[in-house]
Amino acid sequence: MTEKRSFTLDQQEIPFQPGDSILQAAQRAGVYVPHLCFHPDFSANGSCRLCVVSIAGKTVAACHYPARSGLQVTMNNSRLQQQRLRLLQLLFAEGNHFCPSCEVSGSCQLQALAYDLGMTHYHYDPFYPQRPRDGSHPDFFIDTDRCIFCDLCGRAGTEQDHKPVYRLGGRGEQTRLLIYSASGKLGDSRAAADDKAAHVCPVGCILPREGHYRDPIGERVYDASPIHWVGNRRRDQHAAPAADSAGDPSHD
Ligand code: SF4
Ligand code: SF4
Ligand code: FES
Repeated sequence: MTEKRSFTLDQQEIPFQPGDSILQAAQRAGVYVPHLCFHPDFSANGSCRLCVVSIAGKTVAACHYPARSGLQVTMNNSRLQQQRLRLLQLLFAEGNHFCPSCEVSGSCQLQALAYDLGMTHYHYDPFYPQRPRDGSHPDFFIDTDRCIFCDLCGRAGTEQDHKPVYRLGGRGEQTRLLIYSASGKLGDSRAAADDKAAHVCPVGCILPREGHYRDPIGERVYDASPIHWVGNRRRDQHAAPAADSAGDPSHD
């Protein structure tokens, strides 16, 4: 007899495939698990911790934890929601996030999760870090003020583009987005317009030069529906068919 592969997530039965993490199985079942640093095309790095769930009283990252039969997983309780909220507030305080003037406002996954979790204020004093901007590349502009250090661009570069362009350097408060080039500038790197790495940033850090502020209010990714319905999407995926939803494993 074949073993039934499923676990429960907030009392809902979730089937899984061998090798799935809890997050991957939940996504396939159409259940949204909050996340920022996970993308289905790349290895999980477990850095943002927004996907925290509880298993037998232990808090684990759903993007890293392997799905197993019989697991009883809790995702939504007040403790975990509060934990996610504090992590988000820390991310806002660590960078310089001035949403009203940001061109990805309304299509930003960090902002959308903040709305979803009912964030109303910073909670932590903002660090106001001094970070350089980089306008040296003909196709992209980098505003490192908004980097949340998810390393999606780094993983996309090494795992899919097979050329290193972006990486994270430093530690703690001094963590920075760095560029692989002699000058440290994107214009001197091997970055190209169609690199996957240039099209995975969940916030407004790596920005295409064309189409600034092109999406009118009302047509941005999260104007009509919250992220737990839409899933983690970028504005360049917004015109994609509706099948690219939270229950579709192809969405990120
Ligand atoms: S990247 Fe997102 S959270 Fe940061 S300023 Fe832009 S819209 Fe706001
Ligand atoms: S530039 Fe974007 S994708 Fe890269 S680490 Fe920063 S937030 Fe993540
Ligand atoms: S999505 Fe799991 S730690 Fe970021």
